[in-house]
Amino acid sequence: MTKTTISIIKADVGGFPGHSSMHPKLMEKANEQLKISKDKKEITDFYVGKCGDDLDLIISHNKGVDSSDIHGLAWDTFVKCTEIAKELKLYGAGQDLLADSFSGNVKGMGPGVAEMEITERKSEPLVCFLMDKTDPSAFNLPVYKMFADPFNTAGLSIDPSMIAGFKFEVYDIYNNKRVFLNTPEELHELLALVGSKSKYVIKRVYPKKGGKYPEDEPAAVVSTDKLSLIAGEYVGKDDPVAIVRAQSGLPALGEVLEAFAFPHLVSGWMRGSHCGPMMPVAMEDATPTRFDGPPRVVALGFQIANGKLVGPVDLFKDKAFDLTRQKASEIADYMRRHGPFEPHRLAPSEMEYTTLPKVLEKLKGRFEKVA
Ligand code: 13P
Ligand code: 13P
Ligand code: MG
Ligand code: MG
Repeated sequence: MTKTTISIIKADVGGFPGHSSMHPKLMEKANEQLKISKDKKEITDFYVGKCGDDLDLIISHNKGVDSSDIHGLAWDTFVKCTEIAKELKLYGAGQDLLADSFSGNVKGMGPGVAEMEITERKSEPLVCFLMDKTDPSAFNLPVYKMFADPFNTAGLSIDPSMIAGFKFEVYDIYNNKRVFLNTPEELHELLALVGSKSKYVIKRVYPKKGGKYPEDEPAAVVSTDKLSLIAGEYVGKDDPVAIVRAQSGLPALGEVLEAFAFPHLVSGWMRGSHCGPMMPVAMEDATPTRFDGPPRVVALGFQIANGKLVGPVDLFKDKAFDLTRQKASEIADYMRRHGPFEPHRLAPSEMEYTTLPKVLEKLKGRFEKVA
């Protein structure tokens, strides 16, 4: 049976205005480019999404993950969109394209990637999450809730096909290492790591061995490309994306979305240097303008049918998330009143790659030893 690959490849190639949203001409160009590939049958289907100033290419195909054809297509699309961004002098035109030319895989070149190769189930509901003004660790808490917290996901305790739990792949992003942890057995170890979100991020979640689904096909995948670590200096954060499959032995769609009903605090607001609440919004409302925020998440729901992307439904448009948005606004207000003080401003370790050291440099000679 042929497998289907779903790839989200994203980049900020220019904001309009500032870092707040996407110019329609970039969306048009991206649609035009991907349509050419679809017409040539190089890809099965596509959808061009956006979140704030990030352009999110959702592509289905049968070339597997890390395909140089697909990564090349995304890279070329970003380059073409950058040309327009430069003409319009959009802010940070080409911000996330860190290399001069494409060399086979966009990893380490600036764009973020989340992709999974799957055997399509009888019915394959799937959610593409797009975030802005944050980093990949913003997915730690909601993905933990979806796949390991019975207070969020009722199926973990009442659906026989989920009761065995899941397997988490966790990355240590500073040392380029990973560890696999099984839940519920190693739930506490998992939380010990992923609660420390500046260092550990959830990369994938897998079904367990002997369950309903192949153990090597992820149920969830998150982009974890840490731009600041790639460039060695702040060049724009790594606003992340994720793909989560739902239903029938996996969390129900409503359990997947329920994980965002609590506006948890994430890193990355304003200059990539502040902490603020995650606000779930409709795609049209992903326009972070208050202090360049607060951070946003968009959820696009699809049914996959032989590679076709049936959808999307803009899931956070639902009025049921109004209260979460209201709460997020209240928390944003509370956090803002701390001004330059932690924990609104991130700790120096998380600001390591920002311009702060340059400010401190000025004072270097003026620190005196205290007896
Ligand atoms: P499934 O087991 O078919 O995913 O149904 C669960 C459900 O949707 C309940 O909300
Ligand atoms: P982006 O990473 O979304 O470009 O935002 C930059 C920023 O920090 C704006 O305050
Ligand atoms: Mg930007
Ligand atoms: Mg952005």
